[in-house]
Amino acid sequence: MKVLAIETSCDETAIAIVGFKGGSKSPGISILGNALYSQASLHAHLGGVVPMLAKREHGKNLIPLLESALRQAKLWKLHAKEKPLDAKTDKKVRAILEREPELREAFMALVPRLSRPTIDAIAVTHGPGLEPALWVGVNIAKALALIWNKPIIPVNHMEGHVFSSLLVEQKPKQYLLSKVSYPAVALLISGGHTELIHIKKPGKYSLLGATRDDAAGEAFDKVARMLGLPYPGGPEISKLAEEARTKKLPRALELPRPMLTSKDLEFSFAGLKTAVLYKLKDMKLDDATKRGVAREFEDAVTEVLVTKTKAALLKTKSKTLIAGGGVAANRHIRAGLKSMTESLGNISCFLPAPSLTTDNAVMIAVAGFLKQRGTKKKNVSFKADGNLRLSSNSSKK
Ligand code: KG4
Ligand code: ZN
Repeated sequence: MKVLAIETSCDETAIAIVGFKGGSKSPGISILGNALYSQASLHAHLGGVVPMLAKREHGKNLIPLLESALRQAKLWKLHAKEKPLDAKTDKKVRAILEREPELREAFMALVPRLSRPTIDAIAVTHGPGLEPALWVGVNIAKALALIWNKPIIPVNHMEGHVFSSLLVEQKPKQYLLSKVSYPAVALLISGGHTELIHIKKPGKYSLLGATRDDAAGEAFDKVARMLGLPYPGGPEISKLAEEARTKKLPRALELPRPMLTSKDLEFSFAGLKTAVLYKLKDMKLDDATKRGVAREFEDAVTEVLVTKTKAALLKTKSKTLIAGGGVAANRHIRAGLKSMTESLGNISCFLPAPSLTTDNAVMIAVAGFLKQRGTKKKNVSFKADGNLRLSSNSSKK
């Protein structure tokens, strides 16, 4: 089975074509095409992702990325002669892409000339994320599904992050899905989310706790901005913090560990960010200060994440920890989670491979394949939902 997947929830535009062999328990997974364009540098000087700019960029990038993914997968074939769409399909496609005029033009110039690729389904992220950005992906997925007459699978972005942590590389572009002992806990840490999720069995998610204000990645990005570092701030802070540790610099300041001793599994990072702001008022913003702040900030976030995750594992008597999302790229946090699970003994810890940690469409293909295997539903009607939740017990904001 081959799945074409589309991801546009934030500032990465991505299309992947992924092949699956064997049963759903341990499918062999091959990345046949993987085309990704990061808009990060475009949003960098604006200090964060601007939703309407992200939407416009997705509209521009999707058709070139579709071409690239199809070519990589050797599924790119143009009709010898142009084959116009029948009037009904033409009208429907134009209506689906009505709000994306630039994308619609590029789409109509290319897709009717393409011979239908041998894929079995189209998976697309429909939330959570920036709603205008999500809609672009959802709409192109619906238009392709209509023209190519393929089933379409709406995927939750956070479930994608869960599966990306379970992919184990066998050889380049070939993966297996790790076998998970349930119950498990997922720690999902990204630019928009910080959540602890209880997975009782595959596909059964319930929320244990989440941030009350800023997400962990958001805090990294905001503190980076205070230090004059570009967006995305996580990797920048991490680099400076590592330098402070290797150079064995003395601890430059003390920051709070918010909610560390609260009895629940909630987080709060807004206060930590404000604490940095106040401390910086009394400090000269030189390289030594930047390194010192980066290190203490990273230590504070790590300590809180590790402590709460440990409490979640113990509370749910889980056998597995799955950490995912962009912040799971952080080496200090990874090391903290690894050593915590080792100290508990008997708990497997799954972390995403560096290449699949930040947003990508491969994880959306995998989540889509596992969700829809065997069903033949075509063109289900669904919406983009910026606040889509993974867990059944959490209410929408
Ligand atoms: O999952 P992701 O790519 O996009 C969202 O769904 O939000 O996560 C992006 C977030 C950004 O806030 C970025 O600063 C953070 O992940 N990030 C990191 C690191 N790499 C990316 N945070 C800390 N350390 C890193 N090495
Ligand atoms: Zn993400």
